[in-house]
Amino acid sequence: MPYLEINNLHKHFTKSTGGWLKPQSETIYAVNGVSLSLEKGEILGLVGESGCGKSTLSRALMQLIEPTSGNVILDGLDLTKLQQHGQRAARELRLDFQMIFQDPYASLNPRMTIASTLEEAINRRHPNISKADRLERMIELMARVGLDAAVMKKYPHEFSGGQRQRIAIARALAPEPKLIIADEPVSALDVSIQSQILNLLLQLRKDLGLTMIFISHDLGVVRYIADNIAVMYEGKIIEYAPAEEVFHSPKEEYTKRLLSAIPKLPAATCA
Ligand SMILES: Nc1ncnc2c1ncn2[C@@H]1O[C@H](COP(=O)(O)OP(=O)(O)OP(=O)(O)O)[C@@H](O)[C@H]1O
Ligand SMILES: [Mg+2]
Repeated sequence: MPYLEINNLHKHFTKSTGGWLKPQSETIYAVNGVSLSLEKGEILGLVGESGCGKSTLSRALMQLIEPTSGNVILDGLDLTKLQQHGQRAARELRLDFQMIFQDPYASLNPRMTIASTLEEAINRRHPNISKADRLERMIELMARVGLDAAVMKKYPHEFSGGQRQRIAIARALAPEPKLIIADEPVSALDVSIQSQILNLLLQLRKDLGLTMIFISHDLGVVRYIADNIAVMYEGKIIEYAPAEEVFHSPKEEYTKRLLSAIPKLPAATCA
């Protein structure tokens, strides 16, 4: 059985159109029957142009919004039915899946030091942890993401974009999740920093066996990190294959167009 199974997931929105006199509504099929599966430790790359439904899919997977229909099974547990386990258990089960966002500054509390942010995230999983054990865990998390533990006393604004994304990754790891969804985690970073963060995520997969869905509009970035690639178009997965196969022999015209949009490095011009 796959570790993560997404079965015929739909998320539709209703949008009001027309005027006051003649109100009308239109249905947006943001996620329109997505089925995918991941093995433990797999990184799935999800690509597609702006507005194709990538973020809506990730929010529906994370139960940040209620899917219209379909289900999501993570390690045998149906994430769409968490409430059946009761409020308290549902809150704990939610810790099994964490997100990393494009803008780490917006996702970190500007008034909390890094230490407080990590403390809070660790406490959620281990409410009765001793101070000493928690500190040890915080130092370990900082080391995992390549940051010096001494900077934990600082606030998010005192870091660079790349460092902030490392902190956001540490916070996502703190509750020991089974699944991480990263929605455009490197899109706002300089190219040189992008590869550092991608390498960090690959290292974490190797060390911790993390299972991850990595979302990007950039096929080049996804090729670097993903085992398999799913191409999304208008709410549906139109192509799914191992990363190299998608790259070298794409089947769909749309995928070919996405590939041709990847910027090519200019040929060396200087002697
Ligand atoms: N809360 C909402 N209400 C109505 N429509 C929405 C809502 N959220 C998303 N949509 C619509 O669903 C579609 C998919 O949007 P989504 O944000 O998932 O795309 P995306 O692939 O993540 O795009 P981007 O690459 O720009 O982040 C869009 O047409 C969007 O306008
Ligand atoms: Mg998005």
